[in-house]
Amino acid sequence: SLCDIGFVGAGVMGKNLILNLADNGYRVAAFDLDHQRLEALLAQDAAERGNQAPRVVACSSYTELLGRLSAPHLIVLSVPAGKPVDDICHKLIDAGIQADDIVVDTGNSLWTDTVEREKSYEGKFIFFSTAVSGGEEGARFGPSLMPSGDPYAWTRIKPVWQAIAAKVDPASGKPIERKIPGQPVKEGEPCATYIGPTGSGHYVKMVHNGIEYADMQLICEAYQVMRDQLDMNPQDIAGVFKAWNQGILNSYLMEISAEVLATSDSETGLPLVDVILDKAGQKGTGLWTAVSSLQLGSPAPSIAEAVYARSLSALKAERVKASSVLAGPSPQLLDDAQKQARVEALHDALYCAKVCVYAQGFHLMKTAAAEQGWELNFAEIAKIWRAGCIIRAVFLQSITEAYQRNEELANLLVDPFFAKQISGFQQHWRQAVANATLAGIPVPALSSALSYYDAYRTAVLPANLLQGQRDFFGAHTFERTDQPKGKSFHVLWSDAGRPMTRIK
Ligand code: 6PG
Repeated sequence: SLCDIGFVGAGVMGKNLILNLADNGYRVAAFDLDHQRLEALLAQDAAERGNQAPRVVACSSYTELLGRLSAPHLIVLSVPAGKPVDDICHKLIDAGIQADDIVVDTGNSLWTDTVEREKSYEGKFIFFSTAVSGGEEGARFGPSLMPSGDPYAWTRIKPVWQAIAAKVDPASGKPIERKIPGQPVKEGEPCATYIGPTGSGHYVKMVHNGIEYADMQLICEAYQVMRDQLDMNPQDIAGVFKAWNQGILNSYLMEISAEVLATSDSETGLPLVDVILDKAGQKGTGLWTAVSSLQLGSPAPSIAEAVYARSLSALKAERVKASSVLAGPSPQLLDDAQKQARVEALHDALYCAKVCVYAQGFHLMKTAAAEQGWELNFAEIAKIWRAGCIIRAVFLQSITEAYQRNEELANLLVDPFFAKQISGFQQHWRQAVANATLAGIPVPALSSALSYYDAYRTAVLPANLLQGQRDFFGAHTFERTDQPKGKSFHVLWSDAGRPMTRIK
């Protein structure tokens, strides 16, 4: 019999998405250039399906893939972003794909590529996209899905995505756990919502990743303060993170950070974190977020700092040399009570900075939406990030509620709930940043978030002086506080004489 869905790419993510589809009753025809991956997929299907009929068919060509599907064809791609996506699209055209067939890209594609692709494949097939978050495990047992593009294609894909997505318990706002093959969760709110026109879903996923970078960096900074200033060992810090994970800082990233820190290296017996080289990798999505924020003039300094922190970490050899050349402050002696107080301050600092990171990310999406003419529903976006994705956290429920209170919210920081939370915690945040700075421990994400907060709440910034500087050396003009908006003024600056103001 014919299959429901064609699937190209049986790598880690692809294989798990296929098995998730199979668990939900979809028959999948799969293709991968690497035949071993298909064999591994078939073997896992056989191991998991028990005495049911095979749920997955392996194909050896694109023609066979199309032939195995009922029309109109629905084909999902799980391949590396960039050229492979277009290569496959062209192969599908050669194999006879039809104008009403749908191809769904699930990779971490650059959103502008997605926009281009929808246009360039128009008339040949419908190019649709769905950004996926949640890593291997999310793909297998329920990812967070950010679909966007042709609305007709969405009506076709919606039931499929809602079936395989992570689910949230509507009463608590918390994820419904699913870890058993063959037992999909049917109840709950699915973490899959239509984001908007082509490109918007990948844009939203890009910002998700920017937030992910900053969230990870914040946790790493808290770790380094505890390690280097408070002399705590990885086990102790794992304990602190586990405790924090029980409260408002509960998140997947906090949970896994505790697990990483509690793990020992099987070869040396050392804490695993001590044998991992401190050089961070990156595949580009955080960088894209920072670039977009600069281009749109929607500040996301903590996301940009998180990208820089990775770049700086990669300069390992230079840092090692500099460490014996550049002086830092002399160490402070702290007693146990002081150390305890510092850990508590770090908790509050992390929370406040996290609010700022999300505020930056959501502000960026709002700015991009206005620029592109997308109508993004921020409460829905926060909702589908409550489970399945890497940044899932109880905190996303509070963000959902903030946008439900006011869908036009200018910035998360001015939501009454978050404004109150930060005002209660800010003293600790300031102390944590100051103490780390005095101890010479870099906290670029924690401190840039604090500067963001302070700048955003400042009615008069020194940009007045800056405009004066610009006018002085370049006749760039300025607006006056006592004149209507948009009127430009310029001062005829003379070396000694009286400046004269004139309307340009
Ligand atoms: C997710 C992740 C994922 C991303 C990795 C790698 O939401 O599941 O964001 O899509 O590929 O986190 O990112 P870096 O290699 O850039 O850290």
